[in-house]
Amino acid sequence: MTMARVSIILGTRPQIIKSAPVYEALVKSGVECDIVNTGQHYEFEMNRQFFSELHLPKPSADLNVGADTPNEQIGSIIRGLGRLFEDRRPDLAIVPGDTNSALAAGIASSKAGVDVAHLEAGCRSGDIRMAEEVNRRVLDNLSEVLLCPTAACVKNVKSEHLPAEAIANVGDTMYDSLLRLRPTLEMIDVETKYRLEEGSFAFMTLHRAETVDDRASLRAVLSAVDGLGIRVAFSVHPRTRDRMSEFGLKPGPNLQTLEPLPYLESLAMVSRSKFVITDSGGLQKEAFWLGKPTLIVRDTTEWNEIVRAGGAFLVGTTPSRIALGYKRVSKITPKVFRESGQIFGRGKASTKVARMISKYLDALGNERD
Ligand code: UD1
Repeated sequence: MTMARVSIILGTRPQIIKSAPVYEALVKSGVECDIVNTGQHYEFEMNRQFFSELHLPKPSADLNVGADTPNEQIGSIIRGLGRLFEDRRPDLAIVPGDTNSALAAGIASSKAGVDVAHLEAGCRSGDIRMAEEVNRRVLDNLSEVLLCPTAACVKNVKSEHLPAEAIANVGDTMYDSLLRLRPTLEMIDVETKYRLEEGSFAFMTLHRAETVDDRASLRAVLSAVDGLGIRVAFSVHPRTRDRMSEFGLKPGPNLQTLEPLPYLESLAMVSRSKFVITDSGGLQKEAFWLGKPTLIVRDTTEWNEIVRAGGAFLVGTTPSRIALGYKRVSKITPKVFRESGQIFGRGKASTKVARMISKYLDALGNERD
């Protein structure tokens, strides 16, 4: 029997974070595994630095798709992967997250007859206008293996009667990464580097098309946050940087704008902040695990578990709701975060993923023999 081969297909920051512990666990359990980078995120801070911080090896292939419209980007990735699969077809593609790279990887794999395991399956915000919601729904439908991060995600996919052959709550592999990196965060002196005082600033990121591509909504958020009267360290995503300049929006005096941060600095920022303001999915979870409240500047979230636990508030982009959310933040007690790890597993998600993938590959091998 020839050894089965797995490719992890990624291309953005959050996909690199989700994949790193999985790659390590797969290699440890003897699975032959390589990494294919679509290149959706291509700037140093957005990509290569994340590979080295998370100890991922160099990708075996780089599609270099770069920035483009979603359709062009998705089309280029499908074409690139199609060619790659003709040359060296993996037995299984592991596809993390819900980005355009993830959608394209799912479609290309399915068309090439490569089985798909979706890592972070079953998340639903219920808002189909979000690009990521479309991506995750389509990808879940195309996947043979659904690796869900929470019990609620398993419930979602079961209620949709998806055709997958294997579904399990494995926990969240981002939590595995966080637990591993947490002891090193103390050594990262973001206070001196960015002239901040521990516990007296908010850490903010904004990048979703729904928040930043609309001038009125971006303007409302920036001015509402500036008006809270607290220093806000604002890591500006390239999409947001471009929109701010296109819309002629200047940050107010309480906003301290920063280039996209390396991963460890970003986690250190969360851990020293008073609270987090974001429209990102991953950062909501990281704040929860690090015991920090979050104002989610969206109307829906795929991580309802955190809102239900009381660790985050959905405040949308309206200034009055943002201001009200800020008042509620100071009333949150540490008790809220005590169970935070358990909702997302206990930091052993990647081991569970490796076990499940090995079992799936064995079954595939037996079918083919
Ligand atoms: C993508 C994901 C989102 C994820 C986020 C993390 C989709 C639909 N969205 O959003 O789910 O949370 O990544 O960051 O896939 N750009 C650069 N340099 C880069 C990357 C992007 O300048 O390294 C610019 C490009 O002009 C591009 C824009 O940012 O057009 C948006 O980037 P894109 O990769 O399309 O989506 P994100 O907003 O990063």
